[in-house]
Amino acid sequence: MKVTVVGAGGNVGSTVSMAVAQRDFAKEVVMVDIVQEKDGDKIYPSKGRALDQWESSPIHQFDTKLTGTVDYEDTAGSDVCVITAGVPRKPGMSRDDLLEINANIVQDVTEKLVKHSPNTIIIVVSNPLDVMAQVALETSGFDSNRVMGMAGILDTARYRSFLAEEIGVSPKDIQALLLGGHGDTMVPLPRFTTVCGMPITQFIDEDKLEEIVDRTKGGGGELVNLMGTSAWYAPGAAAAQMVEAIMLDQNRVFPCAAHLNGEYGQENLFLGVPVKLGEGGIKEIIEVDLNDEEQQLLDESADHVHSVLKEFRQLMDK
Ligand code: APR
Repeated sequence: MKVTVVGAGGNVGSTVSMAVAQRDFAKEVVMVDIVQEKDGDKIYPSKGRALDQWESSPIHQFDTKLTGTVDYEDTAGSDVCVITAGVPRKPGMSRDDLLEINANIVQDVTEKLVKHSPNTIIIVVSNPLDVMAQVALETSGFDSNRVMGMAGILDTARYRSFLAEEIGVSPKDIQALLLGGHGDTMVPLPRFTTVCGMPITQFIDEDKLEEIVDRTKGGGGELVNLMGTSAWYAPGAAAAQMVEAIMLDQNRVFPCAAHLNGEYGQENLFLGVPVKLGEGGIKEIIEVDLNDEEQQLLDESADHVHSVLKEFRQLMDK
C-alpha cells in the first residue's frame, strides 16, 4: 500500500506523512515537494524531512518507508495521494492572488499525480479547501467518490477538544458533527453533539456552548495569531485518519468535503457533510435530517463556497 503526499516539505504535508508512518499500515509514503532556494543554495525539503522521519522509525517502531523526492515518477501506483501543496498568504497578497496561485499549483500537481497513478484516490488539504477540491476533481476527471477534501475532521476535532476541556471529560468521549464549508460559515450541530450519547446540553449551558462554537469557527485564525502561520499538527492528523480509513477499508463515518450532486439540495459543489469512507474512497454521502434553522445555515455556507468558486472561474477565464 502506497501513499503520496505532495507539499511534504512543508508543515502540513510532513505531519500527514509522519502520522501515516506512525500508524504503520502503509508499505511506503512518498513525500513530494519542489526544489527550494535558501541563501542562494538549492535545498530539498521533502528529502530532508523524509530522511529525518525515517530515522525515527526504530524509536517509533514503524516499518513504513518514507522517501523524499521531486520526481513524480516515484509516486507511480499510489493508492492514495494527499495534496497539501500551496503558498501561504503573504503581506500584500490579495485573496484572489492566493486563490489563483494555489489553484494553479493544485491543477499542476493533480495532472502529474494522475498521470502516474490513474487509479488513485485524492485527498485535498490546500486552501481554500472547497474550491481546491473542485479543481482536483475537474483536473483529474475522476468520479467524485475518489476526490475529497479534509476539513470536517479537523473542525470537529477542535470543537471536541474545546468541549472536553470545558466539561472536564476525555476528548475521546465527545461525539460531534459539523457541516458546511471550511471557514467562518461552518455549521455546528449542537443537536448532534453528545458525551457518550448523552446530549451535550446536559453538561454545558447554552451561552458557553455558543462561545465554543464561535471559537471553533475561528479556530484556524486563533492559531495563526499565536504562531504567525497556519496550523499543522491537527490538520496532519486529520488527513492521516482519512488515509487510514480508505486504505484499511474501515467504513469510518467522518465529516469530509464531498462533491454534492443533489444531496442537501446542492449541485456540483464541495461541502462538508458526513460520509462513509473506505475502499474506493467515499462509499456513501449520508444525508442528515436537518431542521429549518440548520438547513438555512448550510445554504448560507454553500452560497459562500459558490461565491468563491465563481470568483475562481472568473480568474481562470481571464
Ligand atoms: N509542487 C509541490 N509542492 C509545492 C508546490 C508545487 N507546485 N508549490 C508549493 N509547494 C510546497 C512548498 O514548497 C511547501 O513546502 O508546498 C509546501 C507548503 O508548505 P507550507 O508553506 O509549510 O504550508 P503548510 O502550513 O504546510 O500549508 C499547506 O495546507 O492547511 C493548508 O492552508 C494550508 O493551503 C495550505 C496547505
